[in-house]
Amino acid sequence: MATVFKNIFDYEQAAASKLSQDAYEYLTGGADDKRTIKRNASVFSKIQLVPRRLVDVSKIDMKLSLFGNEYASPIILSPVGMQKLFHPDGAKATAKAADAGGHLMIASTVTNHSYATIAKGMAPKPWFQLYSTTQLEVTKQLIKTVEANGCEVLVLTVDVPVVGNREKHAKMLVENVEGRALSIENLAGKLGPEDHFHNPALTWEIIPWIKEQCKMKIILKGILSPKDASLCLKYDVDGIIVSNHGGRQLESDLSSLEALMDVIEITNTQIPVLLDGGIRRGTDVLKALALGATAVCIGRPYIYGLATDGAAGVFDVLNILDTELKRNMQLCGIRNLEEIDGSYLRFPKF
Ligand SMILES: Cc1cc2nc3c(=O)[nH]c(=O)nc-3n(C[C@H](O)[C@H](O)[C@H](O)COP(=O)(O)O)c2cc1C
Repeated sequence: MATVFKNIFDYEQAAASKLSQDAYEYLTGGADDKRTIKRNASVFSKIQLVPRRLVDVSKIDMKLSLFGNEYASPIILSPVGMQKLFHPDGAKATAKAADAGGHLMIASTVTNHSYATIAKGMAPKPWFQLYSTTQLEVTKQLIKTVEANGCEVLVLTVDVPVVGNREKHAKMLVENVEGRALSIENLAGKLGPEDHFHNPALTWEIIPWIKEQCKMKIILKGILSPKDASLCLKYDVDGIIVSNHGGRQLESDLSSLEALMDVIEITNTQIPVLLDGGIRRGTDVLKALALGATAVCIGRPYIYGLATDGAAGVFDVLNILDTELKRNMQLCGIRNLEEIDGSYLRFPKF
C-alpha cells in the first residue's frame, strides 16, 4: 500500500530518509545556531485565531489575483536553488506540479535548469528570482533572456550580500555551488573564476538600472526593516517579499511574521506584500494573510515533497496545504481571501 502523507512533517521525515546527508544538510541548514529558523515557525503559535459562527461556508474561493494573473491558491513556491540535489528532475518537476495545481512558482537564478526550460509550457509563466552577479553585463543578459521567455515579474533577492554562516553545509556549498559541480544553466559558462552569484556592492541604485533593462515588474525579496519598506516605495518597486531567507542568512532572532507587521504598517496596501519563512500548516497561511500579507511562499515544504516523490510529491504537499487552508477558512467562517483580516486574530493577554 502506498504511504499516505498526512502533513508537511510526514514529508519532512520521508525526505530525511531519502536524501544524502549533504543534500539534507543543505536543505535544512541555517545560520549559526538556527534560532531564526526556529522562530520563523514557532512564532505562528503565539497568535490565536478567533472564528466566527453561522456563516455559509459551503463554497470557498481561495483564488489569488496578482499583477493581472489568477492562481488557484495564495500559496506560492519560493525560489530554491540547486534542486537537482533533491531529485534528478529538479526544478522541472517542481514546475510541473505548480502548473498542474495552479500555483505560482518563483524560479531561482541558481537552480540547475534554465528559466526557459522551467517556464516552457507553463501558463501563467513563473516569476524569476534574480541574484545580481558581480558582472553587470551577465546580469543584464540574464534579465533580457528571462523577459524574452515570457517572464513578467522579476524578484530581486536582496538579503545575500554574502552567504550566511551555515556551518553544517559550508563545505558542500563550496564544492557543489561555488565549485560548480552541478551546472547552473542560467549562468553556465558566463562567470569567470573570480566572479560570484552574489554582489556585495549592490545598492538601491540597482532598481533604476533594472528598470532601464526591462519592462518586468520588480519585487524585492528579503525585506525586514520598515525603513527598507519605505525605500521600496520611494524606488517604486512593485512588491515586497518579507523574508529572512528561511533563516539561512543573518541569525537575527527576528521571524518574518514579526517583520511583516512592521512592513505592512509602512506599505499600507499600496503594493502587494508577500511573506515566506516557517509556513508549515494552513493555519500559518491564514494568520499571515490576516496580518496583511497578500500571499505566502513556501520553500522547504515543497522540497520535502520533491525529494520524496518528484513532481507528485510537490503536488501533494501543495494539495495538503491548500486543503488545510480551505478547512481552516471554513472553520473560521471565511469564504474568500478578501474576507481574511485582523478581526480573526487575537494576541494572548496572559
Ligand atoms: C535549499 C534552499 C535553497 C534556497 N535557494 C534560494 C535561492 O536560490 N534564491 C532565493 O532567493 N532564496 C532561496 N532560498 C530561500 C527561500 O526562497 C525561502 O526564502 C525560504 O526557504 C522560506 O522559508 P521556509 O523554507 O521555512 O519556507 C532557499 C532556501 C532553501 C531551503
